[in-house]
Amino acid sequence: MIAAMKNLTIDPERLWDDLMQTAQIGATPKGGICRLTLTDLDRQVRDWFTTRAQALGCTVTVDDMGNMFARRKGTRDDVPPIGIGSHLDTQPTGGKFDGALGVLAALETLRALVEAGYETFAPVEVINWTNEEGSRFAPAMIASGVFAGVFTRDWAAARSDREGESFGGALEAIGYRGEEPCGARKLSAFFEVHIEQGPHLEAEGKDIGVVTGVQAMRWYEVTLTGQDSHAGTTPMPRRHDALLGAARIVAAVDAAARAQNTTVGTVGRLEVKPGSPNVIPGEVFLTVDLRDPDPVVLDRVERDIADAVDLAGAELGLTTSFQRIWAQPPQPFHADCIAAVREAARVSGFTTRDMISGAGHDAAYVARVAPTAMIFVPCLNGISHNEAEFSSKEQCAAGAQVLLQAVLEYDRKLAEKFG
Ligand code: GLV
Ligand code: MN
Ligand code: MN
Repeated sequence: MIAAMKNLTIDPERLWDDLMQTAQIGATPKGGICRLTLTDLDRQVRDWFTTRAQALGCTVTVDDMGNMFARRKGTRDDVPPIGIGSHLDTQPTGGKFDGALGVLAALETLRALVEAGYETFAPVEVINWTNEEGSRFAPAMIASGVFAGVFTRDWAAARSDREGESFGGALEAIGYRGEEPCGARKLSAFFEVHIEQGPHLEAEGKDIGVVTGVQAMRWYEVTLTGQDSHAGTTPMPRRHDALLGAARIVAAVDAAARAQNTTVGTVGRLEVKPGSPNVIPGEVFLTVDLRDPDPVVLDRVERDIADAVDLAGAELGLTTSFQRIWAQPPQPFHADCIAAVREAARVSGFTTRDMISGAGHDAAYVARVAPTAMIFVPCLNGISHNEAEFSSKEQCAAGAQVLLQAVLEYDRKLAEKFG
């Protein structure tokens, strides 16, 4: 058993082939992926995942949020599984690695176990979480949020995209609404491999990030209503220009974040109505994304932005609505899982650095209901949510190898505990 553990390795070429193959589903001309959640492209990649998992002898279960669980039995099948995975949806101009690496590294981990004929004590399940990105249906990580009991199923199913289609309707349409109630499944642990999406590992020349937690995040929706009016005939003092208000708010978000040491603030979506060159915009919808390790700092930044919205409304004669639609507190990971990742990196011969995740991940919600940790690998120039996002074959393989070892490590602990 011990000898087998030492020799178990993932296959870097096979993992890379999977990454490149799935990247064709929704491939963009600039080398990225546009595979928004619950679209037909999402269905295609889910079908691909199902076929591959079944070929490994797994049973694939889908819950009623569309989360997918590909299960390989353990010697003690009554022990809750060790979950490994991430997400297969992408941003509109996403890269090949954000999310996909975590699912495909997990699939490769299972393949290595199957090939070696290695039987784990606990079952191992590869998980594909629905709508991690939150680009089409806000907020991000909806389905892992339901899994963790943070959101209700009905609330999540009723979330609507900007065209008015509901999450539940879109899930039904691609045929991936399963029978199992989301959250009914228990996990012994969860491990997620991901590209860092930031610059630290690359800058310090480290192979692996041992992720100890995820920073706090908040999302807001702002609507400004002024008055549509003729661009050629409406004197400047008589205008109620919603876009001018939005411009002030965009600048205020940037200034409020910069006023703190650690906060980041972004306006990522701006919808201007009616959107005609010779009509003063009467309505603008915009989104705000704020993040910081400390929620008290976020409270301060939120107040600054709320004040800026009020001021823009008062000065420009606009009706304003400023709504916080999502608040996720900072989420520490579990000491046992962090230790398993650290030990896995050590036995694999990789250099490490502890870090907090700047990006959101399903692991942050799963951590509320199961011991959880994450494994980061470097990405080129720290760039992500971009078609140029890149991690090398070796970097991806390192993440998968650490995942495999972490599973073995944690499985051994479970065997000691329950065996
Ligand atoms: C998820 O991609 C996030 O917004 O961090
Ligand atoms: Mn991701
Ligand atoms: Mn992402």
